[in-house]
Amino acid sequence: MKFSIVVAALASGALATPKYPQKLSKRTLEYSPPVYPSPWMNPEADGWEAAYTQAREFVSQMTLLEKVNLTTGTGWASEQCVGQVGAIPRLGLRSLCMHDSPLGIRGSDYNSAFPSGQTTAATFDRGLMYRRGYAIGQEARGKGINVILGPVAGPLGRMPAAGRNWEGFSPDPVLTGVGMAETIKGTQDAGVIACAKHFIGNEQEHFRQVGEARGYGFNISETLSSNIDDRTMHELYLWPFADAVRAGVGSFMCSYQQVNNSYGCQNSKLMNGLLKDELGFQGFVMSDWQAQHTGAAAAASGLDMSMPGDTEFNTGVSFWGTNLTLAVLNGTVPAYRIDDMAMRIMAAFFKVQKSVELDPINFSFWTLDTYGPIHWAAGEGYQQINYHVDVRADHANLIREIAAKGTVLLKNTGSLPLNKPKFLAVIGEDAGPNPNGPNSCADRGCDNGTLAMGWGSGTANYPYLITPDAALQARAIKDGSRYESILTNYAASQTKALVSQDNVTAIVFVNADSGEGYINFDGNMGDRKNLTLWRDGDALVKNVSSWCSNTIVVIHSTGPVLIGEWYDSPNITAILWAGLPGQESGNSITDVLYGKVNPSGRSPFTWGATREGYGADVLYTPNNGNGAPQQDFTEGVFIDYRYFDKANTSVIYEFGHGLSYTTFKYSNIQVQKSNAGVYQPTIGQTTPAPTFGNYSADLNDYLFPSEEFPYVYQYIYPYLNTTDPRNASGDPHFGQTAEEFMPPHAIDDSPQPLLRSSGKNAPGGNPALYDVLYTVTADITNTGSIVGDEVPQLYVSLGGPDDPKVVLRDFGKLRIEPGQTAQFKGVLTRRDLSNWDVVLQDWVVSNYTKMAYVGKSSRDLGLSIVLS
Ligand code: NOJ
Repeated sequence: MKFSIVVAALASGALATPKYPQKLSKRTLEYSPPVYPSPWMNPEADGWEAAYTQAREFVSQMTLLEKVNLTTGTGWASEQCVGQVGAIPRLGLRSLCMHDSPLGIRGSDYNSAFPSGQTTAATFDRGLMYRRGYAIGQEARGKGINVILGPVAGPLGRMPAAGRNWEGFSPDPVLTGVGMAETIKGTQDAGVIACAKHFIGNEQEHFRQVGEARGYGFNISETLSSNIDDRTMHELYLWPFADAVRAGVGSFMCSYQQVNNSYGCQNSKLMNGLLKDELGFQGFVMSDWQAQHTGAAAAASGLDMSMPGDTEFNTGVSFWGTNLTLAVLNGTVPAYRIDDMAMRIMAAFFKVQKSVELDPINFSFWTLDTYGPIHWAAGEGYQQINYHVDVRADHANLIREIAAKGTVLLKNTGSLPLNKPKFLAVIGEDAGPNPNGPNSCADRGCDNGTLAMGWGSGTANYPYLITPDAALQARAIKDGSRYESILTNYAASQTKALVSQDNVTAIVFVNADSGEGYINFDGNMGDRKNLTLWRDGDALVKNVSSWCSNTIVVIHSTGPVLIGEWYDSPNITAILWAGLPGQESGNSITDVLYGKVNPSGRSPFTWGATREGYGADVLYTPNNGNGAPQQDFTEGVFIDYRYFDKANTSVIYEFGHGLSYTTFKYSNIQVQKSNAGVYQPTIGQTTPAPTFGNYSADLNDYLFPSEEFPYVYQYIYPYLNTTDPRNASGDPHFGQTAEEFMPPHAIDDSPQPLLRSSGKNAPGGNPALYDVLYTVTADITNTGSIVGDEVPQLYVSLGGPDDPKVVLRDFGKLRIEPGQTAQFKGVLTRRDLSNWDVVLQDWVVSNYTKMAYVGKSSRDLGLSIVLS
């Protein structure tokens, strides 16, 4: 048995955060300041006390090898899940399973396929967000998963064409923050650790990984750098992650790309500074898969778990594993840091899972075969690996409900709801099945038939997929309607013949897809090439609506599409955005079209008239020679509706827009000021870094125990292959002291000052940020004739010259009977009314006059009141 060793595994990390701005290509690259040491856990943090008590007891018994085993993945495809760490059999803990995805269990069977995060955001319904998180958690738990890799707040949605926006919620940080918090609470209440990802600035697919980009012919040597200024970071991108921390999330995933020219998974400002220090995150940070680029320096920067453990897939070597063992033994990584990693992982575990007695993992991500090698990549350990456990319970009903309530009625001139239409004609590929089956394209990397999820790791296999065609036909037959469908976009003459008949209600289904960067579908390398409909959808809509004066359009998409060419045609009597609805797609849209569900979805993004109108766009071509492409977030906090408002451009449908089959009237806005007191900056300092347990300095104790178990090919272990540390490491820097090698303060274990913006024991930042300063109320009356759900939205204007016109701060979802009035109550916290002061490094309520608005969308704000 032989271990190969990663040369410079430890060394490259010394460059984690360059000391000085680097000159390259005639420009000064943005720079990420070093923040060390890595904050150690606070066992007294609110909500974590009991978990840390249990973790301390467990970790105190662990050996160094066991701690390293817990922090290091065992290698790509080495076990059943998409990522696993080493087991601690001596203490009764089996290997922990980290597995995708944010909308269900990826690659398994007898699981559900839920609506996307973005579609769920469109419900503006906290209860549904929570229940979806809970149901996904239950399914994950039923499969033996310990950490489900979601929810997503990065990408936030800076660019509408970005491939993975649908995995997250919305470009609005408040809506996303609510989505994050509710999903996390639901998931963790069901007994599975949630993972807030991808931290942070992971806004596009192009250039997120060097190998992937090179595969597409881009000659770059480093990944994209998202260059984000401090204010924008706080007021926009960090905001929903703060909500995740506050909700008690157990894990974070750092992202592939760089932020201000320091890699996400070794960026000390992000992980040490923002996440652990300022937000007081008490769980653990895992790397995205192959996003780790360094050993000791990543540890010093705040990384706690290496995923999937090998440097690159199936190299058999790791930046951590053996190298981390050695780095601790020679003092490069201080003992308190490995203890902190182990404590954080076990605290997150005990917070959510309570006991080390776990059910086994009962599926294999790598195959649906019942029998196969448990060590998939190595082809070793043939046994039963899939038990085909049905974890779906009654989640189909919830899925149907979320997708229906997340469907946005963008336009309706009176054709909806349908009422026993005489003749229903359904047109378009997007209404029908994928002829090869709903799961036929790996990770859904194609666009055949109706679109119900995007592509990539953020997917799940469908247990079935109800097509719009199937559900609408069943309903039409039940009603005695005539029904015909044409499930191709390319049968113009037949389509014309059909929809030009008398009495036709035509429903055209169209779509636009996107996904993760490792799949290139039709030239869309994850990110969309454009914002237009796929498969000549525009031509289809224009044709059908030219032949039929009652044309209804349903759009399935991963974000906004350009509909300016046809949306205002009088023949187009209704337009619906059905997002990515998941397995119950056809049932959900039928419920809405027929009024079983009165639509109450609201658009979680703006429908601009042009692509340029959005301001920010995907960077499709490297702009820094073969160095890291530089993406400057120069628009600052102005994305989506904030950008359109600033530019004063008209839009087709604004953020927050959505119609109902009834109507609502808003009146009587009132505001009540609370007596929250003044903001108290946090003061004081931490304890010194604690350590838990001892370790032997005798390298003989760290050799591979070949008598205990056989070596699995390319598996990542914590052991050494020789007692000669230089040979065991192979690192050219071997022999350098930690002081010489590590950035200043990286190994400091003395008490550290608390940041004024942090919470001493309160995860999520200074708790005074969450004090309620104002409560705003308004009366909402259902002025129509049927019951409906309304989504009153509370916006504020912060009043400064650099502030957006309005920003969403709260919303409600009220069921109101016809003729009845309900009161909406929204709250404004101190954070809601503050700006990030980059000099003070804290949140400050400016002196500008602040206004509150309540209305139906970001541009329909009928009620306003001064906050005084
Ligand atoms: C890479 C993706 O970016 C991440 O979201 C996913 O969880 C991992 N791969 C594991 O599949």
